[in-house]
Amino acid sequence: MKNTETQFPILLRTYAGLEEILADEVRNIGGAEVESYTRTVVCKGDLGFIYKSNLALRTALKILKPIHSFTFNTNDDYYKHCFEVPWHEFFSVDKTITIDSLLFSEKFNNSMFVSQLTKDAIVDRFRKEIGKRPFVDSKDTNIYISVYIKDNQVTLYLDSSGESLHKRGYRAEQVKAPLSEVMAAGILKLSGWSHHFPLYDPMCGSGTFSIEACLMANNIPPGIFRPGFAFEHWADYDKTLFDQILDNLTSKIEQNPLQIFASDRSRVALQIAENNAKEAGVESDIQFNPTIFQKVASPTRKSWLFINPPYGERLQPAEIEELYKTIGATLKHNFSGCEAWLFTSNSEALNHIGLHTSRKIKLYNGPLECRLVRYEMYAGTKKGGAHLL
Ligand SMILES: C[S@@+](CC[C@H](N)C(=O)[O-])C[C@H]1O[C@@H](n2cnc3c(N)ncnc32)[C@H](O)[C@@H]1O
Repeated sequence: MKNTETQFPILLRTYAGLEEILADEVRNIGGAEVESYTRTVVCKGDLGFIYKSNLALRTALKILKPIHSFTFNTNDDYYKHCFEVPWHEFFSVDKTITIDSLLFSEKFNNSMFVSQLTKDAIVDRFRKEIGKRPFVDSKDTNIYISVYIKDNQVTLYLDSSGESLHKRGYRAEQVKAPLSEVMAAGILKLSGWSHHFPLYDPMCGSGTFSIEACLMANNIPPGIFRPGFAFEHWADYDKTLFDQILDNLTSKIEQNPLQIFASDRSRVALQIAENNAKEAGVESDIQFNPTIFQKVASPTRKSWLFINPPYGERLQPAEIEELYKTIGATLKHNFSGCEAWLFTSNSEALNHIGLHTSRKIKLYNGPLECRLVRYEMYAGTKKGGAHLL
């Protein structure tokens, strides 16, 4: 069933607050009829587009292909509809499967039960067709099936990504509270940073802002480090087409000169950041420095800062207050003429920064409500002819 020409609907998931950024990315790589909804973008594309989007999109978490929709009234009804799907045409019986169900329905409220019922239908259909059944393996999965139920309406999807796309594959190690790679890329895009300006990542932890910035600046597709994608296990997987798309994307990699400064007070964190940058092949683009933010040398020209301070779970309230006050004072005194973007889930702590925010954006890191705020540090006084350098 190789069918690379036909366009079909595609659904892409992201974090709440990044939908428009993702929609732009989807348009830029050729997605058709792009629309955005909460945590979701939908578009039309062909099989090649599925491959390309998994490799190239920076702000998508999952890319799903709907394979069947129906309405149902009873459990039996649900099972029969699932049984009708020719599962054996989508993947072979030797593939392991996992089913993940998302429910907004009074009919079904137990996602485990729905996943079980769906699995029964898949297994029974395989047995009927070929006398053998596929097995569920949530640790070593080949085929990811997603069920979405709203009231009595069901859509069944094949998840083309498999493991969430924030797992780029370059992170060998991480600090205690690492930033999601997809969130970091989304923040960089929201900020409008361009690689013509220096970038400071002064609480770099495992280095996510710096590494994502290098990938973005040099047009490096974020998916090229992954061990694989779920679509490689689909019956219609076209390896020649995938290789062509991969070659085409990698041929567009650039080597722009970058000024990216990653620092952290923890030597352990900095070592982790360096190792991760090596995995991504961008270590020579980043200048690493084990130091506290207060001691980072002031830039000589307009720069962008991306700061992801500790949220405070492991700190006393007084320590958090002191830390955020220090960030504000350091920005004001050492980074005049620069633009800082700070991302935190501790909106209380932001009150201690003591600087005027010129933009506030609500973002959700999963269920965690976070704030992305911008501070513009004017050189001179704002009244008397303030300017950004
Ligand atoms: C939430 S983590 C950052 C996670 C990071 N964005 C990542 O991708 O892994 C906060 C980091 O701030 C660092 N930090 C805390 N206070 C600091 C200070 N005054 N100067 C420099 N780094 C600091 C911690 O060592 C920690 O690595």
